[in-house]
Amino acid sequence: MQALILVGGQGTRLRPLTCATPKPVVTLVDRPFMVYMLEWLRAHGVDDVIMSCGFMADGVREVLGDGSALGLALRYVEEPEPLGTGGALKYAEALLDERFFMLNGDVLTDMDLTAQLREHERTGARATLALMGVEDPSAYGLVRRGPDGSVRQFVEKPSPEEIDTNLVNAGAYVIEREVLAGMAPAGTKISIERDVFPALVGEGLYGFEAEGYWVDIGTPKRYLQATFEILEGVVHTAVGSEVQRSSGVLWRAAGTRNGTMVHAPAVVGAGCELASDAVIGGRTVLGPGVTVASGAHIDSSVVLDGASIGSGTRITGAIVGPEVSLGEHCRVEDGAMLGRGARVGSGNTLTAGVRIFPGVELPSEAIAF
Ligand code: GDD
Ligand code: MG
Repeated sequence: MQALILVGGQGTRLRPLTCATPKPVVTLVDRPFMVYMLEWLRAHGVDDVIMSCGFMADGVREVLGDGSALGLALRYVEEPEPLGTGGALKYAEALLDERFFMLNGDVLTDMDLTAQLREHERTGARATLALMGVEDPSAYGLVRRGPDGSVRQFVEKPSPEEIDTNLVNAGAYVIEREVLAGMAPAGTKISIERDVFPALVGEGLYGFEAEGYWVDIGTPKRYLQATFEILEGVVHTAVGSEVQRSSGVLWRAAGTRNGTMVHAPAVVGAGCELASDAVIGGRTVLGPGVTVASGAHIDSSVVLDGASIGSGTRITGAIVGPEVSLGEHCRVEDGAMLGRGARVGSGNTLTAGVRIFPGVELPSEAIAF
């Protein structure tokens, strides 16, 4: 079975993590995000994957290669300019089979694609959308269905008064190639959600209510949520199982814990050096080669490879990018994000979703609010 994965978005809502790293290969816990998707697809019989890239295609290819390490064949299609979610589909037409999965490339899920495919066959649909129930559909595509499961309306990013169901487009479709015949010619910028699906209503567009875990990792809040839920085993993943098997603390650093308090669930990467009176976790990921100085306290956070954390610094609910250097007695909390290589002097307070861009240097006590 074939799958087309859209990975051409710029990932602006995840900046600065996505300033230099394309969203599909941003590290989630201990591996590039896309690896979770590919493992899930392979488990549902997918062996042929086309990555539809626009933005930073080389960065994706460099990390994922030809897919052989993951047991599937990976090919890349590069749009000359972003063509939108519909344009990207049309642009890949020459490579597509008669029937294929199409996926948004920023969703962490363990839902049952095989069941969706069966339902697609049963109804004889031309396209079947996986649907998920969410609390607030406003950031998604809202889907209204008839009693037979056919889609009656598709409303992308509905306004509050349009919301009358919690079922949204989960970004996983089964599509018959014939659907492409009715689309605008290749090279036209179109949205599958705004242009293609609404036109398919009444023409064989069905919705399949999926079950299981599902989160779009495309915002800092949801990126952290996905991290926590992998660590807690709420979503079934290989690294999550490893954490569970290690009684909640996956310790990859050399030697023993040396007295450092590490609360579950947590992952401590290879080559980390932690002061004996530092406190780590729970819900915390330290990437490889992170150093944490005396008295520092990190919880509910992600600290990526090679970052160094000064003594007495406290990090809660934040994302610290690779190679960041954080001085002493800083507070970093509440959705703050630090981009690769940022250097933050001592005594700063970074909170309330503040974003420090890659390479920025902040002197001591420059920000406190
Ligand atoms: N190749 C290519 N070209 N890919 C693109 C382009 C493009 O021009 N634009 C976006 N993409 C990719 C993104 O990289 C992402 O993987 C996927 O298409 C969806 O784009 P997002 O920008 O993440 O959309 P969204 O999250 O606001 O909404 C979409 O996903 C929701 C579920 O997560 C819609 O499909 C909603 O209907 C849906 O509910
Ligand atoms: Mg998205």
